[in-house]
Amino acid sequence: ATYIVGVDIGGTTTKFGLLTDKGEYRDQWRISTDTENGGKDFPGQIAAAIDERLNEHRISKRDLLGVGVGVPGFIDEERGIVSAPNIGWKNDPLRSMLADALHLPVYVNNDANLAAAGEHWQGAGKKEDSTFFITIGTGVGGGLLVNGELVTGVSGTAGEIGHMLVVPHGRLCTCGREGCLEEYVAAKGLSKSLRDYLRNGIGTSILDENSVAIDIYEAAAAGDALALHIVNEAAYYLGYALANAATMLNPGKIIIGGGISAAGNTLLQPLLVHFKRFVLKEADRKLALETAELGNDAGIYGAAWLVMKRLGYFDGRS
Ligand code: BGC
Ligand code: NA
Ligand code: ZN
Repeated sequence: ATYIVGVDIGGTTTKFGLLTDKGEYRDQWRISTDTENGGKDFPGQIAAAIDERLNEHRISKRDLLGVGVGVPGFIDEERGIVSAPNIGWKNDPLRSMLADALHLPVYVNNDANLAAAGEHWQGAGKKEDSTFFITIGTGVGGGLLVNGELVTGVSGTAGEIGHMLVVPHGRLCTCGREGCLEEYVAAKGLSKSLRDYLRNGIGTSILDENSVAIDIYEAAAAGDALALHIVNEAAYYLGYALANAATMLNPGKIIIGGGISAAGNTLLQPLLVHFKRFVLKEADRKLALETAELGNDAGIYGAAWLVMKRLGYFDGRS
């Protein structure tokens, strides 16, 4: 058989999958993401975790097409350089570090781009060649496919909806600018909103300064007025940003993934209301909004897809 290793690097956990070129899982495993010392030991740990498994399975590197890696940050695929504030990487040559350690072809890309590709290859985007994927979790990520091709932009930031500006002079973001979407709707954004409201003495609530995103969603589902206000505000910004993205990109499908599944309808329902209100009607006409199908595996499928794609596997397929 011909194999590919897909890697999905997250802020706390990094997931691996051993797949065949038919998209079948043969094994999956995970290690914790080592962010000590700016994440400088972590590339070596990733390589070791791959070598170990390949040895266990007695898979020769000759039967491996390569390794695809999704990174939660800004990725220059061609140069293989990555910046990921949550891990500590800044302009790190991840691709060559891994390729040198593994003696295998390595391809890197943004985590949300690869989740978009994974859903396109094996999940909710299967029958649609132009999709926009958004993931809402620790951060907010986005991935754009047009006619089955991943759109990365010239330096890798295409689709970064989490850094779309929604509040002029708003909260300071890790990217150095103010008012980015993820500062209001990602997990950290919800806690920031909560602390702002509590500090200003607005409303009574079952929540306190230590409550986190899940607590806020639970309280909202239970009818807590402040929690409902915070979630609705997040849905408003999210609907606003997604509507602008849909108006500009005119995709056939928007796929929503990530931790949002935990929030479920508490967030999804108001999001749909705001989205419908803001989006250009002509862009909305043939648009389907769907939740992701592959859950935590989307990024790994997409990482495998990237290797095959870059090696020309899908060329000639319409
Ligand atoms: C990062 C994106 C990433 C997203 C999801 C954001 O904070 O800037 O590059 O795709 O989180 O992990
Ligand atoms: Na992206
Ligand atoms: Zn930002």
